[in-house]
Amino acid sequence: MGPAMRILAIETSCDETAAAVIEDGRRILSNVVASQIDLHARYGGVFPEMASRAHIEAIVPVIREALVKAHVGWRDLHAVAVTRGPGLAGSLLVGVNAAKGIALGRDLPLLGINHLEGHIYAHWLETESEGAADPDALEFPLLCLIVSGGHTELVLMQDHGRYQRLGGTRDDAAGEAFDKVGRLLGLPYPGGPAIERVAQKGDPARLRFPRAWLEGSWDFSFSGLKTAVLRVVRGYGEAGPDGRPPRQAPIPHLAAAFQEAVVDVLAEKTVQAAAAYQAKAILLAGGVSANRRLREEVKSRAGDIPVYYPPIFLCTDNAAMIGAAAYYRFQAGQRDGWEMDVVPNLRLV
Ligand code: KG4
Ligand code: ZN
Repeated sequence: MGPAMRILAIETSCDETAAAVIEDGRRILSNVVASQIDLHARYGGVFPEMASRAHIEAIVPVIREALVKAHVGWRDLHAVAVTRGPGLAGSLLVGVNAAKGIALGRDLPLLGINHLEGHIYAHWLETESEGAADPDALEFPLLCLIVSGGHTELVLMQDHGRYQRLGGTRDDAAGEAFDKVGRLLGLPYPGGPAIERVAQKGDPARLRFPRAWLEGSWDFSFSGLKTAVLRVVRGYGEAGPDGRPPRQAPIPHLAAAFQEAVVDVLAEKTVQAAAAYQAKAILLAGGVSANRRLREEVKSRAGDIPVYYPPIFLCTDNAAMIGAAAYYRFQAGQRDGWEMDVVPNLRLV
């Protein structure tokens, strides 16, 4: 073992300004996340121009706090990594330019990282969390379900940095569906955690929404489900002021039935894909993998295939996962120059 390698990682792809210091790709020395949820909650979603301005204000204090909490100085760092896409251009630009400035100023290697690869590499961070993988014991191929606000992808990971895309959503991402239906049910933004909370008071069998199985493919579709929820909500009467659902609408039952429909399809196709490709384990990644029903349902259907999910703070957007991915990219020889730019629609494969 050589001396420890420390990466400063920066993530500003959407509405969290985040910085972390990661040692040897595994140990989280610090992980700072400044959320803009309060800012965007008023609009029921992310407001891109405001997100970018909020990143500009937060980026320097967040990076400084990440160094302080990690008890490291600039000279203890060996590389700077940053999310270059996918995400909002104006948000990504703030992180990428901060990273370039630091890399130039401190003469450190610069690495641009794919946000989706980051979500997957959350599994290589050491945590004591229930359900988390032991990174030393992970064997390929791995079946990854990436479910976030912007993405729903089924990916076979054949090795570090080697991916085969099996399928993905044809319309709304799973998290986007949670957020849109949350708004429809009059719940606060973001809709995912709000729906999960309210659904606990509901009976998932009282109502049943359709599932889009898209058989013969590993694809998903959630826009029909959202329309079905809208139709049922309208059936309970006139919308209230601000488009709030009618008073008679049984919000907990609606939330529970919607959550079951999403979880049913995600869990079933994930488990089937894992079996079809003889995956050694299933990795759940992205903000929606924080959902307890999804975790339970994938586990209960997966049989002998182990199912792993990171602790909730590593499921939603953070910079620690970017540092973990960057470690493997660094080992593989990746070094980016000043021409490295944001790619808002960057794909994993
Ligand atoms: O990965 P993430 O933090 O950001 C993106 O890369 O998009 O994912 C955010 C998404 C949001 O749509 C949010 O509603 C959803 O993850 N989410 C959840 C839960 N926690 C966050 N969805 C369902 N259940 C949850 N507990
Ligand atoms: Zn994300």
